[in-house]
Amino acid sequence: MRMSVLLVFLCYAITAGAFHNRVFLGSQSIAISSARSPISVLHAMSDSIIDEDSSVSKFSGAGPVQVDMNIYNLPFETVLEEWTANMVPATPMQEEGIYLGAKNSREHLVDVVQVEFPRLQDMGLGIQLMELAGGREDSLGITIVEGLVEGGSAENSDILPGDCITKVAVRKSSSTSAPVDITAGMDLTETVEESAVTTECLGYDATVSAIVSLPPVSSEGETFVLTLKRLRRKPKINLTLQYPPEMNEPDVKLELFAGENLRRSMLVKGVKLNDALSRRFDSGGIGDCGAEGTCATCAVKIVQGGNLCNPRAQQEAQILVKRANWRMSCKTIVGYGMKEGSMTVRVSPRQWADGS
Ligand SMILES: *[C@@H]1O[C@H](CO)[C@@H](O)[C@H](O)[C@H]1NC(C)=O
Repeated sequence: MRMSVLLVFLCYAITAGAFHNRVFLGSQSIAISSARSPISVLHAMSDSIIDEDSSVSKFSGAGPVQVDMNIYNLPFETVLEEWTANMVPATPMQEEGIYLGAKNSREHLVDVVQVEFPRLQDMGLGIQLMELAGGREDSLGITIVEGLVEGGSAENSDILPGDCITKVAVRKSSSTSAPVDITAGMDLTETVEESAVTTECLGYDATVSAIVSLPPVSSEGETFVLTLKRLRRKPKINLTLQYPPEMNEPDVKLELFAGENLRRSMLVKGVKLNDALSRRFDSGGIGDCGAEGTCATCAVKIVQGGNLCNPRAQQEAQILVKRANWRMSCKTIVGYGMKEGSMTVRVSPRQWADGS
């Protein structure tokens, strides 16, 4: 389903009108209202430096990333099939708009990557683009990176084929010396000026027009700062659950995604969690605390893969102080730090001969 090779914008003299072999992929993959005018999608230049959402943290409860996320990259052929554009209503995190998404959002995630590299005087950006969807009146579409041009500004950057460029900024910094305090001498002030265009969910022509609208090189030392969206698979945890030997239950194998809560995932999958021998840690009675982390009736013993979980917080550590490998499953996040691997966990650890 390769559409066509689209053009490289090597210099800013190229105009969008020069591209004739435009691709029409139909609009079925873009769930948007066609009433939008092109003006509202061709985002205006912005002089401000906008903080980007910090990457994966917003996709899961997995905590700060502890691995190189590039291990979860998808093959280019998969990415071609996976990009989609969704109309997203306003949330506290972002405005209403059309955003890139993964078709298979259960298995895949859209990560945000920022790269910065020097702006070469005569070479332009040097990114080869390819349109996956477009040809619409309203300029909406999906345009991805197909490759990097030899000798171009982006040549040695970490941009990968299949990435979508969502924002291109040019940064200039200039240092000026200003007297601040006689005794402290001269103070060096650095001012950073940024011009940026956003290009998320634009077709090829609109993407190129936006980029060529950036101001021409005016001084040495300018940099490009690109925000990209990159599709990745979600890290997985293979979990083996063992029941006490007396229960004669076969092991249960579950596949969880990084960031999932252990107790909730077990309950959702119908795993029997109730430990008949356990008394509530807090009251000594029966029943559970409803995942408050006070009763410890959902405790499990991690036989293997404890390093894939979040660390115990103070309350859990105090309650389970004599049980080094036990966790309250209600307070356990698997795939913490976006790690993946396999875990073996014993349910109802009090009923095992070597219970502790
Ligand atoms: C989980 O198990 C499947 C099937 O056995 C295997 O292909 C996969 O590599 C395992 N994943 C991890 C993260 O260990």
